[in-house]
Amino acid sequence: MNFTEIANNRQSCRAYDSGRAVESEKLNAILETARLAPSACNGQPYHITVCRGEAAKKVGEACMGMGINRFASDAPILLVLSEQDYVKTAAFGAKVKKNDYRSLDIGILAAYITAEATAQGLGCCILGWLNDGKIREICGLNAPIRLVITIGYAADETLREKKRKPLSELVSEVE
Ligand SMILES: Cc1cc2nc3c(=O)[nH]c(=O)nc-3n(C[C@H](O)[C@H](O)[C@H](O)COP(=O)(O)O)c2cc1C
Repeated sequence: MNFTEIANNRQSCRAYDSGRAVESEKLNAILETARLAPSACNGQPYHITVCRGEAAKKVGEACMGMGINRFASDAPILLVLSEQDYVKTAAFGAKVKKNDYRSLDIGILAAYITAEATAQGLGCCILGWLNDGKIREICGLNAPIRLVITIGYAADETLREKKRKPLSELVSEVE
């Protein structure tokens, strides 16, 4: 798949084939691609915790509530993206320029992970609705939990029509 094909094929997967495990080569490919994600000052101010088995079930449950993310514990793998400290130069830039580079870095990381998962034929979903305290406890982390990504084989691979703003609304030009 080239990048355009990956972008067209990636969609949030909210129903997983719970009986089908993810091959470790595929998970490794995702993690290797995640390693290549760019970040401010190349600081990579994040950590990825791979959750499987009981931990995956518990983290999935910690992403549920008010009827949201009920599917989260059906995925065989959950990746927890937590914050790490900025490197000094990025911390300086963030302060002087009042820009939250770390959130941008974690967003780009999530984009790389979901793109590679798609290229590997897997379904995935980014979860921002999560219980920070519970996930810290389950994963033994002492840092803000920013995103969780569910990964597994989709129960239904039908591609949905993408609903997006038209380019006319999204893009403008100045000369
Ligand atoms: C930062 C972020 C947080 C999200 N949180 C959730 C979530 O908690 N639960 C969920 O089902 N989808 C979540 N999504 C998925 C979006 O709803 C989804 O990407 C968007 O509606 C576009 O649909 P698509 O991914 O199928 O193209 C999140 C996406 C992003 C980027």
